[in-house]
Amino acid sequence: MMGNIKHPQPEKIPQHVAIIMDGNGRWALSRGKPRLAGHRAGTENLRRIIQASVEFGVKYLTIYAFSTENWGRPPAEIKGLMHIFENVIDKELNELHKEGVQLRHIGRLEKLSPKLRKKVLGAIELTKENNKLILNIAFNYGGRDEIVYAIQKMITEGVSPEEVNIEMMSQYLFTAGTPDPDLVIRTSGELRTSNFLIWQSAYAEWYITPTFWPDFDKEEYGKALKTYATRDRRFGGVSEEHYE
Ligand code: FPP
Repeated sequence: MMGNIKHPQPEKIPQHVAIIMDGNGRWALSRGKPRLAGHRAGTENLRRIIQASVEFGVKYLTIYAFSTENWGRPPAEIKGLMHIFENVIDKELNELHKEGVQLRHIGRLEKLSPKLRKKVLGAIELTKENNKLILNIAFNYGGRDEIVYAIQKMITEGVSPEEVNIEMMSQYLFTAGTPDPDLVIRTSGELRTSNFLIWQSAYAEWYITPTFWPDFDKEEYGKALKTYATRDRRFGGVSEEHYE
């Protein structure tokens, strides 16, 4: 069946794709390399997937780069991931800017080093007018933490209980102004959300592949989009062809 599916129709291209880039460690292990080599290979792959997103016509791409739970990893790995983030900004920012990519950050910046924080803010400022692709980097991000933060902000601002509704809640999240993800991709086969966009993905379609993130190339991405194009999204309703 899959082989017969043509390139996704433009109207069936998801507007917002979110990715849990899992499996860097296992990719490295399977090659007898250190985990950080897996993260580096994962970073190279990210470059390809950003490019492919532009080519496929995806408008928003959100990537899970570092979760609030990742602080529990060995210090050397944490340091390495911080270093990779810094390196990505140093080495890729100009190219991304030239390609019209707008960088945004979701999560808490406070816990990052002042140097890294400054680089992230600088990248956001530089690219804020770009609109070819909005790239949301979830770094020190957790879905539960995001909801707690939103509630704290509402209380601080004196929002009254009757004013709180779904729309308002969405506006207090780090993703305010961004449409909810249409498609969430998780590489390396795990069947869980891992605290990623737990509010926003309420009606997202999920695509889970056993492929490790560094090997999830443009072709695999295309397969995910083709699968998405065949899904019947009902948002809790009933499709027209199923009406009596
Ligand atoms: C999950 O693989 C991956 C991560 C926790 C980090 C993802 C980071 C990158 C791909 C680098 C790109 C980064 C930035 C900062 C833009 P894992 O280590 O949990 O893999 P495993 O489950 O096989 O151990």
